[in-house]
Amino acid sequence: MNIAIIGTGYVGSVTGACLAKIGHKVINLDIDQEKIDLYKSGQVPIYEPDLGKLILEEQKNKRLSFLTSYFDTIPKSEVIFIAVGTPSRKDGRADLTYVEAAAKEIAKNMNGYKVIVNKSTVPVGTAQKIEKIISKYYKGKFDVVSNPEFLREGSAVKDFLKPDRVVIGARSNKARDIMLRVYEKIDYPKVTTTVESSEMTKYASNAFLATKISFINEIANVCEKVGADVEDVARGMGMDKRIGMDFLKAGIGYGGSCFPKDVNALNQIAGTNGYDFKLIKSVIEVNNRQRTLIIDKLENLFENLKEKKVCILGLAFKKDTDDIRESAAVDIIKMLSDIGAKITTYDPEATANSKEALKDKNVEFCNDPYQATVKAEVLVVATDWTEFQKLDYQRIKKLMKKPNIIDGRNILDPEKMRKLGFKYSGVGRI
Ligand code: UGA
Repeated sequence: MNIAIIGTGYVGSVTGACLAKIGHKVINLDIDQEKIDLYKSGQVPIYEPDLGKLILEEQKNKRLSFLTSYFDTIPKSEVIFIAVGTPSRKDGRADLTYVEAAAKEIAKNMNGYKVIVNKSTVPVGTAQKIEKIISKYYKGKFDVVSNPEFLREGSAVKDFLKPDRVVIGARSNKARDIMLRVYEKIDYPKVTTTVESSEMTKYASNAFLATKISFINEIANVCEKVGADVEDVARGMGMDKRIGMDFLKAGIGYGGSCFPKDVNALNQIAGTNGYDFKLIKSVIEVNNRQRTLIIDKLENLFENLKEKKVCILGLAFKKDTDDIRESAAVDIIKMLSDIGAKITTYDPEATANSKEALKDKNVEFCNDPYQATVKAEVLVVATDWTEFQKLDYQRIKKLMKKPNIIDGRNILDPEKMRKLGFKYSGVGRI
């Protein structure tokens, strides 16, 4: 099928490359010429395993191309995915400016029936808004479909090609059947439903996962008070298939471009529809507090953090990405810098992205994890990079001024660290 993807951000680039991989002819469109040139040359402006290779392969196979012109893209496309950004507005609502602009450009260039697919995460009712915009500029028949993405940064290509499910919300059987054809090579369960239910499924899924994280973080905080270990508790809980092991990792809270934004947006959607979603408010509050608990732990170690040298390992909001959006690590550095601590930091991928965000903070960015620990009085693990588990902590102990570790991701072995002579503290661990 001939497919267009509007937006070459994270979702758009992965969707385009993967749809090409399963045999479709895909045009990835972006109004940003620089980005398009980068993709054409096989470079990927984000760190995402397997993506660069796939984009190059599919361009060579002539199934994937990159354009900036709606005029050259829309008329030849049967299905058009909108995959542009929906950033958070100050009040927590999703900003639909880019989605609306894309809908208008699509409509102005339509030459017959098309299925316009919303892949961006949008509030319930957005499909209707898009329908209105398109009808204003195009008088023929079309369908707007909701098809949310459930990709995780760091494993997005795998998640797309082997998803747990594909959700399709359509108003007509014709549009639904076209969408089933788009995904026919992907042999996984497909949920077909109404547009509104599909839009809601995305928010409900992210909010539920965020709730799981805030729940286990609350359990971790109680574990610390009663002398229990949250890692064992999570294992004991997760083995119950109804609960499941995933997303029960306690730590400094969730971040990234999705959970904070979507959970806030769901709170807003409920509120504007006259419903007080109490649980989701607590999820947000617990997540915000989780970051400050690390500061409390540091303040328990030192009476005064002023001039204290703190090494923060990790800047990305999670491992295997260079993304620092809503990163707990970055928030913690800001708080520490504001109270006068001197910070050294290392991240395998996210340093370049962090320099701007932390430009007025007291931070030294290091190219090597060991260098970051030199003369530090405490080391804080803030991102769960596997590399941090494999460091030579014997060497690190010699490099540090004082052997204190606060493991904000519970990725180190407490017993091993204590044997090496560290004073170790995790989140909800004994
Ligand atoms: C999340 C969802 O997992 C995807 O299904 C969804 O498609 C995506 O948002 C989106 O809406 O686009 P992502 O933001 O890439 O994906 O990251 P996750 O792996 O879900 O992690 C989110 C945050 O939760 C990270 O900061 C991570 O460290 C934290 N987390 C995750 C925990 O603190 N504990 C856990 O047990 C799991």
